[in-house]
Amino acid sequence: MADPIGYRRAVPGTQPDYLYPPYRSTEKRAPTKPLIRIPHTLSEVTGPMFGQDKVSPTDNDLTGQHAAAPIGERIIVSGRVLDEDGRAVPHTLVELWQCNATGRYRHEIDQHDAPLDPNFSGAGRAMTDAAGRYRFLTIKPGAYPWGNHANGWRPAHIHFSLFGPSFMTRLVTQMYFPGDPLLPLDPIFNSVTEPVARERMVSVFDIALTEQDFALGYRFDIVLRGRGATPMVG
Ligand SMILES: [Fe+2]
Repeated sequence: MADPIGYRRAVPGTQPDYLYPPYRSTEKRAPTKPLIRIPHTLSEVTGPMFGQDKVSPTDNDLTGQHAAAPIGERIIVSGRVLDEDGRAVPHTLVELWQCNATGRYRHEIDQHDAPLDPNFSGAGRAMTDAAGRYRFLTIKPGAYPWGNHANGWRPAHIHFSLFGPSFMTRLVTQMYFPGDPLLPLDPIFNSVTEPVARERMVSVFDIALTEQDFALGYRFDIVLRGRGATPMVG
């Protein structure tokens, strides 16, 4: 069998460098030796499929996991997952996790002095449909302080994880909200130095996704690899 055609390599600046000193933890984890370029063979352009049998249709509703509704502003987050040529990635697993409306995660390491919400766990998952579409119902996450630098605050964000069709389409990223005043100050957001690529992490307010008397809608399209790829941000 002939070698498969590999994925396009990222354009410099459109993905964060492994070392970006303003984001301090990159100093601990960045490679210290030159990288070795690995060709994309069958092992890289294929991969396992996740979520085929285990995702229930209600796993995408983060507001319905407990006895009562969580506190916060309900939002709909929806979009399409696309490949490097703009084609839909159907039937692929999309996972997300986030803090609650006060800016606190339900995790023992998070000791931020903000209240936990007994009705919000902060994690959900969905499969894309035949057109690559996914949809979540959740609440808008709050900003929270972090120890990266003096008076550092993370802009409101939702973490996303996708696998796509192969090992090389694995993506972990963060979705932000338009107009957030903390974005220009955020080292993680700014670790993507190319402004156009950086904006790919910012969702778009979409009145068409908004449901009257119920929830605002934000559109977040996710591109796995290629020139328009959504940045990989942990
Ligand atoms: Fe976070």
